[in-house]
Amino acid sequence: MLDETLIPEDHVIVVFGATGDLARRKLLPALYHLAEEGWLPRNYRIIASSGVDMSQEEFKDFARAAVDEFSRSRSVDERWEQFSANLMYAAGEFVPGETQALKEAVSNAEGQLGDRPSRLFYLAVPPVAFVPITEALGHSGLSESAKVIFEKPFGHDLESFEHLNRSIHEILDESQIYRIDHYLGKETVQNILAFRFANGMVEPVWQRQHIEHVQIDVPEAIGIGSRAGFYDHIGALRDMVVTHLFQVLSFIALEPPSELNRNAIAEEKLKVFDSMVALDPAGVVRGQYEGYREEKGVAEGSDTETFFAGCAFIDNWRWTGVPFYLRTGKCLPEKRSTVSLAFRDPPSRMFAGVAADGLGADHLTIELGPNEGISMQFLTRVQGPGIKPGKARMSFRYEASFGSELIEAYERLLHDAMIGDQLLFTTDQDIGRAWELVGPVLADPPPLHPYPKGSWGPPEADDLVGAGTWNAPGEARVT
Ligand code: BG6
Repeated sequence: MLDETLIPEDHVIVVFGATGDLARRKLLPALYHLAEEGWLPRNYRIIASSGVDMSQEEFKDFARAAVDEFSRSRSVDERWEQFSANLMYAAGEFVPGETQALKEAVSNAEGQLGDRPSRLFYLAVPPVAFVPITEALGHSGLSESAKVIFEKPFGHDLESFEHLNRSIHEILDESQIYRIDHYLGKETVQNILAFRFANGMVEPVWQRQHIEHVQIDVPEAIGIGSRAGFYDHIGALRDMVVTHLFQVLSFIALEPPSELNRNAIAEEKLKVFDSMVALDPAGVVRGQYEGYREEKGVAEGSDTETFFAGCAFIDNWRWTGVPFYLRTGKCLPEKRSTVSLAFRDPPSRMFAGVAADGLGADHLTIELGPNEGISMQFLTRVQGPGIKPGKARMSFRYEASFGSELIEAYERLLHDAMIGDQLLFTTDQDIGRAWELVGPVLADPPPLHPYPKGSWGPPEADDLVGAGTWNAPGEARVT
Protein backbone atom coordinates (compact mmCIF):
# COMPACT_ATOMS: atom_id res chain seq x y z
CA MET A 1 0.00 0.00 0.00
CA LEU A 2 1.48 3.30 -1.10
CA ASP A 3 2.29 5.76 1.67
CA GLU A 4 0.99 9.03 0.21
CA THR A 5 3.28 11.13 2.39
CA LEU A 6 6.28 9.60 0.63
CA ILE A 7 5.25 10.65 -2.86
CA PRO A 8 7.72 13.41 -3.81
CA GLU A 9 6.52 16.84 -4.85
CA ASP A 10 6.53 17.62 -8.57
CA HIS A 11 10.00 17.50 -10.11
CA VAL A 12 12.06 18.26 -13.16
CA ILE A 13 14.88 15.72 -13.11
CA VAL A 14 17.94 16.23 -15.30
CA VAL A 15 20.33 13.30 -15.82
CA PHE A 16 23.76 14.29 -17.14
CA GLY A 17 25.62 11.42 -18.80
CA ALA A 18 22.27 9.97 -19.88
CA THR A 19 23.72 7.72 -22.58
CA GLY A 20 26.48 6.37 -20.33
CA ASP A 21 26.83 3.01 -18.66
CA LEU A 22 25.44 4.07 -15.28
CA ALA A 23 22.35 5.69 -16.78
CA ARG A 24 21.72 2.64 -18.95
CA ARG A 25 22.25 -0.01 -16.30
CA LYS A 26 20.95 1.73 -13.20
CA LEU A 27 19.34 5.17 -13.47
CA LEU A 28 16.87 4.79 -16.34
CA PRO A 29 15.76 1.35 -15.08
CA ALA A 30 15.41 2.72 -11.54
CA LEU A 31 13.36 5.71 -12.67
CA TYR A 32 11.04 3.45 -14.67
CA HIS A 33 10.59 1.07 -11.77
CA LEU A 34 9.86 3.98 -9.41
CA ALA A 35 7.21 5.14 -11.88
CA GLU A 36 5.70 1.65 -11.99
CA GLU A 37 5.52 1.52 -8.20
CA GLY A 38 3.98 4.98 -7.94
CA TRP A 39 7.04 6.44 -6.19
CA LEU A 40 7.76 9.17 -8.70
CA PRO A 41 6.06 12.55 -8.27
CA ARG A 42 2.53 12.87 -9.61
CA ASN A 43 3.91 15.27 -12.21
CA TYR A 44 7.44 15.07 -13.44
CA ARG A 45 9.69 15.51 -16.44
CA ILE A 46 13.00 13.73 -16.98
CA ILE A 47 15.49 15.54 -19.20
CA ALA A 48 18.27 13.26 -20.38
CA SER A 49 21.39 15.24 -21.23
CA SER A 50 24.45 13.96 -23.07
CA GLY A 51 26.95 15.01 -25.70
CA VAL A 52 25.91 12.13 -27.99
CA ASP A 53 24.00 13.17 -31.09
CA MET A 54 20.66 11.32 -30.97
CA SER A 55 17.08 12.14 -31.89
CA GLN A 56 14.26 12.01 -29.34
CA GLU A 57 13.09 8.73 -30.81
CA GLU A 58 16.55 7.19 -30.79
CA PHE A 59 17.01 8.12 -27.15
CA LYS A 60 13.64 6.68 -26.19
CA ASP A 61 14.53 3.43 -27.93
CA PHE A 62 17.84 3.39 -26.07
CA ALA A 63 16.06 4.03 -22.76
CA ARG A 64 13.46 1.34 -23.37
CA ALA A 65 16.12 -1.21 -24.24
CA ALA A 66 17.94 -0.28 -21.01
CA VAL A 67 14.76 -0.73 -18.99
CA ASP A 68 14.02 -4.09 -20.60
CA GLU A 69 17.52 -5.31 -19.97
CA PHE A 70 18.10 -4.04 -16.45
CA SER A 71 14.94 -2.88 -14.67
CA ARG A 72 13.01 -4.97 -12.21
CA SER A 73 9.90 -4.03 -14.22
CA ARG A 74 9.87 -4.89 -17.91
CA SER A 75 8.31 -2.13 -19.98
CA VAL A 76 4.68 -2.63 -20.82
CA ASP A 77 3.48 -0.75 -23.93
CA GLU A 78 0.84 1.48 -22.42
CA ARG A 79 2.80 2.30 -19.27
CA TRP A 80 5.97 2.83 -21.24
CA GLU A 81 4.09 5.39 -23.36
CA GLN A 82 3.06 7.25 -20.19
CA PHE A 83 6.60 7.20 -18.81
CA SER A 84 8.31 8.13 -22.04
CA ALA A 85 5.91 11.02 -22.62
CA ASN A 86 7.67 12.59 -19.61
CA LEU A 87 11.14 11.79 -20.91
CA MET A 88 13.02 14.08 -23.26
CA TYR A 89 16.49 14.15 -24.70
CA ALA A 90 18.72 17.24 -24.69
CA ALA A 91 21.80 16.67 -26.83
CA GLY A 92 24.85 18.84 -26.34
CA GLU A 93 27.55 19.83 -23.88
CA PHE A 94 26.57 21.68 -20.73
CA VAL A 95 29.49 23.84 -19.62
CA PRO A 96 29.80 27.55 -18.75
CA GLY A 97 29.00 29.53 -21.90
CA GLU A 98 26.95 26.67 -23.38
CA THR A 99 23.98 26.51 -21.11
CA GLN A 100 21.19 28.01 -23.18
CA ALA A 101 19.73 24.82 -24.67
CA LEU A 102 19.38 23.00 -21.38
CA LYS A 103 18.15 26.10 -19.61
CA GLU A 104 15.36 26.35 -22.16
CA ALA A 105 14.54 22.67 -21.85
CA VAL A 106 14.27 22.99 -18.05
CA SER A 107 12.23 26.13 -18.26
CA ASN A 108 9.81 24.53 -20.78
CA ALA A 109 9.45 21.49 -18.55
CA GLU A 110 8.84 23.70 -15.52
CA GLY A 111 6.29 25.72 -17.48
CA GLN A 112 4.43 22.51 -18.40
CA LEU A 113 4.30 21.40 -14.78
CA GLY A 114 3.48 24.86 -13.34
CA ASP A 115 3.66 25.74 -9.65
CA ARG A 116 7.47 25.85 -9.43
CA PRO A 117 8.39 22.17 -9.36
CA SER A 118 11.58 21.05 -7.61
CA ARG A 119 14.80 20.60 -9.59
CA LEU A 120 17.00 17.56 -9.27
CA PHE A 121 20.24 17.18 -11.24
CA TYR A 122 22.06 13.86 -11.38
CA LEU A 123 25.71 14.06 -12.47
CA ALA A 124 26.28 10.54 -13.83
CA VAL A 125 29.53 11.70 -15.43
CA PRO A 126 33.23 11.15 -14.74
CA PRO A 127 34.55 13.18 -11.77
CA VAL A 128 36.46 15.62 -14.05
CA ALA A 129 33.14 16.91 -15.33
CA PHE A 130 31.71 17.73 -11.87
CA VAL A 131 33.17 21.24 -11.61
CA PRO A 132 32.33 22.49 -15.13
CA ILE A 133 28.77 21.20 -14.91
CA THR A 134 28.25 22.67 -11.43
CA GLU A 135 29.67 26.01 -12.62
CA ALA A 136 27.34 25.90 -15.59
CA LEU A 137 24.43 25.26 -13.21
CA GLY A 138 25.53 28.30 -11.24
CA HIS A 139 26.04 30.60 -14.27
CA SER A 140 22.72 29.67 -15.79
CA GLY A 141 20.81 30.14 -12.54
CA LEU A 142 19.63 26.51 -12.71
CA SER A 143 21.32 25.80 -9.39
CA GLU A 144 18.77 27.92 -7.60
CA SER A 145 16.86 25.74 -5.07
CA ALA A 146 18.16 22.66 -6.88
CA LYS A 147 19.32 19.37 -5.40
CA VAL A 148 22.39 17.94 -7.10
CA ILE A 149 23.49 14.30 -6.93
CA PHE A 150 27.20 13.62 -7.52
CA GLU A 151 28.30 10.13 -8.46
CA LYS A 152 31.32 8.58 -6.83
CA PRO A 153 34.29 8.75 -6.70
CA PHE A 154 34.08 12.30 -5.39
CA GLY A 155 37.61 13.41 -6.28
CA HIS A 156 40.69 11.51 -7.35
CA ASP A 157 42.85 12.07 -4.29
CA LEU A 158 42.82 14.40 -1.30
CA GLU A 159 43.93 17.46 -3.22
CA SER A 160 41.43 17.10 -6.05
CA PHE A 161 38.71 16.29 -3.51
CA GLU A 162 39.42 19.56 -1.67
CA HIS A 163 39.40 21.54 -4.89
CA LEU A 164 36.17 19.90 -6.01
CA ASN A 165 34.48 20.38 -2.69
CA ARG A 166 35.47 24.05 -2.50
CA SER A 167 34.38 24.69 -6.07
CA ILE A 168 30.94 23.18 -5.71
CA HIS A 169 30.41 24.93 -2.38
CA GLU A 170 30.88 28.24 -4.18
CA ILE A 171 27.65 27.45 -5.99
CA LEU A 172 25.69 25.04 -3.81
CA ASP A 173 25.26 24.81 -0.10
CA GLU A 174 25.61 21.49 1.70
CA SER A 175 21.84 21.00 1.97
CA GLN A 176 21.70 20.91 -1.87
CA ILE A 177 24.54 18.40 -2.29
CA TYR A 178 23.86 14.65 -2.46
CA ARG A 179 27.09 12.63 -2.77
CA ILE A 180 25.95 9.17 -3.67
CA ASP A 181 27.54 5.88 -2.66
CA HIS A 182 24.99 3.33 -3.76
CA TYR A 183 26.17 0.76 -1.20
CA LEU A 184 24.47 2.91 1.44
CA GLY A 185 21.23 2.43 -0.46
CA LYS A 186 21.43 -1.35 -0.17
CA GLU A 187 18.94 -2.84 2.28
CA THR A 188 21.61 -5.15 3.57
CA VAL A 189 23.97 -2.33 4.46
CA GLN A 190 21.26 -0.39 6.28
CA ASN A 191 20.32 -3.61 8.01
CA ILE A 192 23.75 -3.66 9.65
CA LEU A 193 22.44 -0.88 11.90
CA ALA A 194 19.21 -2.72 12.69
CA PHE A 195 20.93 -6.04 13.25
CA ARG A 196 23.54 -4.52 15.56
CA PHE A 197 21.40 -2.13 17.54
CA ALA A 198 17.99 -3.80 17.65
CA ASN A 199 19.20 -7.07 19.19
CA GLY A 200 20.37 -7.48 22.76
CA MET A 201 22.41 -10.56 21.84
CA VAL A 202 24.44 -9.00 19.06
CA GLU A 203 25.93 -5.74 20.28
CA PRO A 204 27.72 -7.09 23.38
CA VAL A 205 29.91 -9.39 21.27
CA TRP A 206 30.51 -6.82 18.52
CA GLN A 207 33.97 -5.78 19.67
CA ARG A 208 37.62 -6.73 20.04
CA GLN A 209 37.19 -9.10 23.00
CA HIS A 210 35.01 -11.39 20.87
CA ILE A 211 35.80 -10.63 17.24
CA GLU A 212 39.12 -11.90 15.94
CA HIS A 213 38.91 -10.25 12.51
CA VAL A 214 36.49 -8.82 9.99
CA GLN A 215 36.43 -9.34 6.22
CA ILE A 216 34.72 -7.06 3.73
CA ASP A 217 34.88 -8.92 0.48
CA VAL A 218 33.40 -7.73 -2.80
CA PRO A 219 34.54 -10.02 -5.63
CA GLU A 220 32.93 -9.48 -9.03
CA ALA A 221 32.80 -11.88 -11.96
CA ILE A 222 32.50 -9.11 -14.58
CA GLY A 223 35.42 -7.33 -16.20
CA ILE A 224 35.38 -3.66 -17.13
CA GLY A 225 33.12 -4.20 -20.13
CA SER A 226 32.86 -1.00 -22.14
CA ARG A 227 33.87 1.23 -19.22
CA ALA A 228 37.59 1.60 -19.96
CA GLY A 229 37.19 5.37 -20.44
CA PHE A 230 36.10 5.66 -16.82
CA TYR A 231 37.84 2.73 -15.17
CA ASP A 232 41.35 3.03 -16.54
CA HIS A 233 41.74 6.42 -14.80
CA ILE A 234 40.27 5.16 -11.58
CA GLY A 235 41.05 1.53 -10.71
CA ALA A 236 39.74 -0.69 -7.93
CA LEU A 237 41.02 1.35 -4.99
CA ARG A 238 39.14 4.48 -6.04
CA ASP A 239 36.18 2.74 -7.64
CA MET A 240 35.38 0.37 -4.78
CA VAL A 241 37.61 0.57 -1.71
CA VAL A 242 37.81 4.21 -0.68
CA THR A 243 34.11 4.40 -1.51
CA HIS A 244 31.89 1.32 -1.04
CA LEU A 245 34.12 -0.82 1.18
CA PHE A 246 35.01 2.06 3.49
CA GLN A 247 31.34 3.01 3.84
CA VAL A 248 30.41 -0.56 4.74
CA LEU A 249 33.32 -0.68 7.18
CA SER A 250 32.05 2.45 8.90
CA PHE A 251 28.62 0.87 9.46
CA ILE A 252 30.24 -2.27 10.89
CA ALA A 253 32.50 -0.30 13.21
CA LEU A 254 30.53 2.74 14.36
CA GLU A 255 29.33 3.31 17.93
CA PRO A 256 25.56 3.48 18.51
CA PRO A 257 24.39 6.85 17.16
CA SER A 258 22.37 8.98 19.58
CA GLU A 259 19.53 9.03 17.04
CA LEU A 260 18.86 7.54 13.65
CA ASN A 261 19.30 10.77 11.79
CA ARG A 262 21.90 12.01 9.35
CA ASN A 263 23.91 14.15 11.74
CA ALA A 264 24.12 11.55 14.48
CA ILE A 265 25.11 8.76 12.07
CA ALA A 266 27.56 10.99 10.21
CA GLU A 267 29.18 11.95 13.50
CA GLU A 268 29.76 8.31 14.44
CA LYS A 269 31.00 7.37 10.97
CA LEU A 270 33.48 10.20 11.04
CA LYS A 271 34.81 9.03 14.40
CA VAL A 272 35.51 5.65 12.80
CA PHE A 273 37.38 7.23 9.90
CA ASP A 274 39.25 9.51 12.29
CA SER A 275 40.42 6.51 14.31
CA MET A 276 41.40 4.51 11.24
CA VAL A 277 45.08 4.10 10.52
CA ALA A 278 46.18 5.13 7.01
CA LEU A 279 46.68 2.14 4.71
CA ASP A 280 50.28 1.05 4.47
CA PRO A 281 51.47 0.36 0.89
CA ALA A 282 53.53 -2.55 2.23
CA GLY A 283 50.32 -4.22 3.45
CA VAL A 284 48.24 -4.03 0.28
CA VAL A 285 48.11 -6.18 -2.84
CA ARG A 286 47.28 -4.73 -6.24
CA GLY A 287 46.43 -7.01 -9.13
CA GLN A 288 45.45 -6.71 -12.78
CA TYR A 289 43.61 -9.43 -14.67
CA GLU A 290 45.42 -10.90 -17.64
CA GLY A 291 44.14 -9.37 -20.84
CA TYR A 292 43.14 -6.08 -19.18
CA ARG A 293 45.66 -4.10 -21.24
CA GLU A 294 44.11 -5.49 -24.43
CA GLU A 295 40.61 -4.26 -23.48
CA LYS A 296 39.31 -1.56 -25.82
CA GLY A 297 40.16 1.92 -24.53
CA VAL A 298 42.76 0.85 -21.96
CA ALA A 299 46.05 2.77 -22.20
CA GLU A 300 49.06 0.85 -23.40
CA GLY A 301 51.03 -0.57 -20.47
CA SER A 302 48.31 0.65 -18.07
CA ASP A 303 49.21 0.34 -14.39
CA THR A 304 45.58 0.46 -13.22
CA GLU A 305 44.65 -2.19 -10.68
CA THR A 306 41.54 -4.31 -11.20
CA PHE A 307 42.07 -6.10 -7.88
CA PHE A 308 42.86 -4.67 -4.48
CA ALA A 309 43.29 -6.33 -1.11
CA GLY A 310 44.48 -4.75 2.08
CA CYS A 311 44.10 -4.60 5.78
CA ALA A 312 42.75 -1.68 7.80
CA PHE A 313 43.00 -1.05 11.52
CA ILE A 314 40.80 1.13 13.66
CA ASP A 315 42.68 2.42 16.61
CA ASN A 316 39.87 2.96 19.08
CA TRP A 317 38.54 1.41 22.29
CA ARG A 318 36.29 -1.08 20.52
CA TRP A 319 38.48 -2.28 17.67
CA THR A 320 42.17 -1.88 18.48
CA GLY A 321 44.11 -4.88 17.17
CA VAL A 322 41.26 -6.29 15.05
CA PRO A 323 42.22 -6.52 11.37
CA PHE A 324 39.57 -5.46 8.86
CA TYR A 325 40.56 -7.28 5.67
CA LEU A 326 39.30 -5.64 2.48
CA ARG A 327 39.21 -7.28 -0.93
CA THR A 328 37.61 -6.54 -4.26
CA GLY A 329 38.38 -7.32 -7.87
CA LYS A 330 37.06 -7.83 -11.38
CA CYS A 331 37.07 -11.13 -13.29
CA LEU A 332 37.05 -13.19 -10.11
CA PRO A 333 35.12 -16.46 -9.97
CA GLU A 334 31.84 -15.05 -8.63
CA LYS A 335 29.87 -12.01 -7.60
CA ARG A 336 29.24 -12.25 -3.91
CA SER A 337 29.56 -9.26 -1.58
CA THR A 338 29.95 -10.26 2.04
CA VAL A 339 30.99 -9.00 5.43
CA SER A 340 32.23 -11.74 7.74
CA LEU A 341 33.02 -11.46 11.41
CA ALA A 342 35.16 -14.27 12.78
CA PHE A 343 34.80 -14.92 16.51
CA ARG A 344 37.73 -15.62 18.77
CA ASP A 345 38.34 -19.21 19.80
CA PRO A 346 36.98 -20.27 23.18
CA PRO A 347 39.59 -20.11 25.97
CA SER A 348 40.20 -23.83 25.80
CA ARG A 349 39.27 -26.52 23.30
CA MET A 350 37.36 -29.19 25.19
CA PHE A 351 36.43 -30.98 22.02
CA ALA A 352 39.04 -32.81 20.06
CA GLY A 353 38.98 -33.12 16.33
CA VAL A 354 37.70 -29.70 15.33
CA ALA A 355 40.07 -27.90 13.09
CA ALA A 356 39.93 -24.15 13.56
CA ASP A 357 40.35 -23.79 9.82
CA GLY A 358 39.57 -20.94 7.51
CA LEU A 359 37.66 -18.20 9.17
CA GLY A 360 37.48 -20.06 12.46
CA ALA A 361 34.81 -22.44 13.61
CA ASP A 362 32.21 -19.81 14.38
CA HIS A 363 31.55 -16.76 12.32
CA LEU A 364 28.81 -14.54 11.09
CA THR A 365 28.37 -13.71 7.41
CA ILE A 366 26.32 -10.81 6.14
CA GLU A 367 25.48 -11.30 2.46
CA LEU A 368 25.21 -7.84 0.92
CA GLY A 369 24.04 -9.32 -2.39
CA PRO A 370 23.09 -11.33 -4.30
CA ASN A 371 21.16 -13.78 -2.04
CA GLU A 372 20.86 -11.10 0.63
CA GLY A 373 20.76 -12.39 4.17
CA ILE A 374 22.75 -13.24 7.27
CA SER A 375 24.11 -16.58 8.37
CA MET A 376 25.84 -17.83 11.43
CA GLN A 377 28.23 -20.74 11.34
CA PHE A 378 28.89 -22.48 14.64
CA LEU A 379 29.84 -25.83 16.13
CA THR A 380 27.23 -28.20 17.36
CA ARG A 381 27.25 -31.77 18.58
CA VAL A 382 26.90 -34.31 15.82
CA GLN A 383 24.28 -36.91 16.75
CA GLY A 384 25.48 -40.40 17.66
CA PRO A 385 27.80 -41.91 20.21
CA GLY A 386 30.44 -39.79 21.94
CA ILE A 387 30.57 -36.00 21.79
CA LYS A 388 31.86 -34.88 18.48
CA PRO A 389 31.25 -31.34 17.29
CA GLY A 390 30.53 -30.55 13.67
CA LYS A 391 29.93 -27.32 11.78
CA ALA A 392 26.36 -26.15 11.33
CA ARG A 393 24.68 -23.02 10.00
CA MET A 394 21.64 -20.93 10.83
CA SER A 395 20.48 -18.48 8.27
CA PHE A 396 18.11 -15.66 7.52
CA ARG A 397 17.13 -14.71 3.99
CA TYR A 398 15.08 -11.65 3.19
CA GLU A 399 13.11 -13.45 0.55
CA ALA A 400 12.15 -16.35 2.80
CA SER A 401 11.27 -14.14 5.78
CA PHE A 402 9.63 -11.13 4.17
CA GLY A 403 8.70 -12.40 0.73
CA SER A 404 8.83 -9.20 -1.25
CA GLU A 405 11.68 -8.17 -3.47
CA LEU A 406 14.27 -5.77 -2.05
CA ILE A 407 14.20 -2.20 -3.24
CA GLU A 408 17.18 -1.57 -5.49
CA ALA A 409 19.82 0.84 -4.11
CA TYR A 410 19.52 3.44 -6.87
CA GLU A 411 15.73 3.43 -6.63
CA ARG A 412 15.96 4.07 -2.92
CA LEU A 413 18.52 6.85 -3.23
CA LEU A 414 16.81 8.62 -6.14
CA HIS A 415 13.62 8.61 -4.15
CA ASP A 416 15.41 9.85 -1.01
CA ALA A 417 16.90 12.73 -2.97
CA MET A 418 13.48 13.65 -4.32
CA ILE A 419 12.01 13.81 -0.83
CA GLY A 420 15.08 15.71 0.41
CA ASP A 421 16.36 12.99 2.75
CA GLN A 422 20.19 13.12 2.94
CA LEU A 423 20.60 10.37 5.56
CA LEU A 424 22.05 7.81 3.16
CA PHE A 425 24.35 10.23 1.34
CA THR A 426 27.97 10.73 2.33
CA THR A 427 29.39 13.90 3.82
CA ASP A 428 32.43 15.85 2.66
CA GLN A 429 34.16 15.18 5.97
CA ASP A 430 33.87 11.39 5.51
CA ILE A 431 35.15 11.55 1.99
CA GLY A 432 38.02 13.91 2.79
CA ARG A 433 39.21 11.65 5.57
CA ALA A 434 38.84 8.56 3.36
CA TRP A 435 41.15 10.16 0.77
CA GLU A 436 43.67 10.91 3.53
CA LEU A 437 43.59 7.26 4.61
CA VAL A 438 44.47 5.93 1.17
CA GLY A 439 46.95 8.75 0.47
CA PRO A 440 50.08 6.69 1.18
CA VAL A 441 48.98 3.95 -1.27
CA LEU A 442 48.08 6.46 -3.98
CA ALA A 443 51.43 8.19 -3.53
CA ASP A 444 53.46 5.01 -3.53
CA PRO A 445 51.45 2.19 -5.13
CA PRO A 446 52.96 -1.26 -4.68
CA PRO A 447 53.71 -3.25 -7.87
CA LEU A 448 50.91 -4.85 -9.82
CA HIS A 449 50.54 -8.64 -9.85
CA PRO A 450 48.87 -10.15 -12.89
CA TYR A 451 46.22 -12.79 -12.24
CA PRO A 452 44.31 -15.12 -14.55
CA LYS A 453 40.66 -14.29 -15.22
CA GLY A 454 38.41 -16.49 -13.14
CA SER A 455 40.98 -16.91 -10.36
CA TRP A 456 40.77 -15.41 -6.86
CA GLY A 457 43.41 -12.82 -7.72
CA PRO A 458 47.11 -12.82 -6.92
CA PRO A 459 48.15 -15.44 -4.33
CA GLU A 460 49.85 -12.63 -2.37
CA ALA A 461 46.36 -11.57 -1.28
CA ASP A 462 45.88 -14.91 0.45
CA ASP A 463 49.00 -14.30 2.51
CA LEU A 464 47.44 -11.12 3.88
CA VAL A 465 44.95 -13.08 5.95
CA GLY A 466 47.74 -15.03 7.64
CA ALA A 467 46.72 -18.51 8.75
CA GLY A 468 43.08 -17.86 7.86
CA THR A 469 41.33 -17.76 4.50
CA TRP A 470 38.99 -15.43 2.73
CA ASN A 471 35.40 -16.35 3.37
CA ALA A 472 33.99 -16.53 -0.14
CA PRO A 473 35.82 -19.43 -1.79
CA GLY A 474 33.92 -22.61 -1.19
CA GLU A 475 31.86 -21.20 1.69
CA ALA A 476 28.22 -22.24 1.76
CA ARG A 477 25.86 -19.45 0.76
CA VAL A 478 22.85 -18.49 2.77
CA THR A 479 20.07 -20.79 1.63
C1 BG6 B 1 30.07 0.62 -8.93
C2 BG6 B 1 31.43 0.44 -9.54
O1 BG6 B 1 30.05 1.74 -8.09
O2 BG6 B 1 29.75 -0.55 -8.17
C3 BG6 B 1 31.45 -0.80 -10.41
O3 BG6 B 1 31.74 1.59 -10.31
C4 BG6 B 1 30.99 -2.01 -9.65
O4 BG6 B 1 32.76 -1.02 -10.93
C5 BG6 B 1 29.66 -1.73 -8.93
O5 BG6 B 1 30.82 -3.08 -10.55
C6 BG6 B 1 29.28 -2.87 -7.99
O6 BG6 B 1 28.02 -2.60 -7.45
P1 BG6 B 1 27.06 -3.77 -7.00
O7 BG6 B 1 25.87 -3.09 -6.42
O8 BG6 B 1 26.74 -4.56 -8.24
O9 BG6 B 1 27.82 -4.61 -6.00
